[in-house]
Amino acid sequence: MNVLIVGSGGREHALAWSVSQSPSLATLHAAPGNPGIASLGTCHPISATDPEALTALARDLSVDLVVIGPEAPLVAGVGDQLRAAGIAVFGPSAAAAKIEGSKVYAKDVMEAAGVATAEALETAEAPCVLKADGLAAGKGVFVCPTPRDVEEALPRVEALGNGIVIEELLVGQEASLFAICDGMQALPLAPVQDYKRLRGGDEGPNTGGMGSFSPTPVVPSELVPEIIATVHEPVLRELASRGSPFVGLLYAGLMVTETGVRVLEFNCRFGDPETQALVPRLDGDLLTALAAAASGDIQGIELGADPRKAALTVVLASRGYPDTPETSVPIGGVEQAEADGALVFHAGTAVREGQLVSAGGRVLGVTGVGTSVARARQVAYAAVNRIDFPGVQFRCDLALTAPDTAA
Ligand code: AMP
Ligand code: GLY
Repeated sequence: MNVLIVGSGGREHALAWSVSQSPSLATLHAAPGNPGIASLGTCHPISATDPEALTALARDLSVDLVVIGPEAPLVAGVGDQLRAAGIAVFGPSAAAAKIEGSKVYAKDVMEAAGVATAEALETAEAPCVLKADGLAAGKGVFVCPTPRDVEEALPRVEALGNGIVIEELLVGQEASLFAICDGMQALPLAPVQDYKRLRGGDEGPNTGGMGSFSPTPVVPSELVPEIIATVHEPVLRELASRGSPFVGLLYAGLMVTETGVRVLEFNCRFGDPETQALVPRLDGDLLTALAAAASGDIQGIELGADPRKAALTVVLASRGYPDTPETSVPIGGVEQAEADGALVFHAGTAVREGQLVSAGGRVLGVTGVGTSVARARQVAYAAVNRIDFPGVQFRCDLALTAPDTAA
């Protein structure tokens, strides 16, 4: 198969890394890709949100499957345009991607599908959570335990335009469950946990994600079939009945509360940096599963997680991230980190005059793999210590309390 991966982040590098191991792969391409992906395939300087240019590229390269990584092109309908040109796509239509693109729509689908979620509230009274409708790159959710928090958050959420969802503040532990979907059926990946806050101890501003690990005690693997049956499958049926079947990765952000599992949000794509901690654990061929979903039938596809492997990813971010990331800073030590046995996924990098430099907020994701999360953690942090660029920010406390027991 000739495969085109759309996007340029750490998630796309991790997908490319996994797909490049498939016996079914002939050629691997990315648009626009990044220097990490360039070591696995050919990168083409075409924007992820330019459907005409992507369609022309896919035709020129006789691409058999396009995998769309980020939410923006999915919500904008890039997948629909490629499909209309007869190209197989892993990634939902704009109509199905609305489950991430609109919080109001997601709530409506959950209610119709009978999926347990936070209760919607009529008025913004603490404790509550305020969510701006529409894509906000992780900046549209305000958790408000006190009246003062509500006072501060209301003008900010209103300033984002697009309408507001007010909901019950849920208390519990968070984890995510991803499933590869063919429109009707869901093939689960391993539960995974990510870290949204910039600094250790869950302090500082929200980010796109500062790290991840899998497996997680928050959602033991025994719980997965029940969550698929009560969350993913009802949503797939509901979206199909609305005429917009979901073909792609359905990401359920979950809160495990004292009274059970509730859905916080859906995303319409692989998580970043969760994917970087999931792909090294895969026991099976990711490309075959993505292609089967894109062609509408994942029946019989097996893609488990290797129970002997755990993985942990540390994100290295630029000085000033998330608000004003510094770029063009030289990066050293990536080869040494790789020589130590870590996987280094490029997220925001570029090569200028032969030198690897930073080119975004999240710069690299360093993944360690081991027989337990604690061991994966040791591998990841030893490699992180090999990498250096001025102003680098990363969290030191990921899975700090993970037990040294087998995955
Ligand atoms: P979302 O983009 O909807 O996942 O929200 C981002 C983050 O806000 C989540 O990962 C949670 O940490 C938090 N959050 C969202 N909704 C709620 C809720 N109803 N109760 C408590 N925390 C929430
Ligand atoms: N790491 C969170 C996300 O991908 O949405």
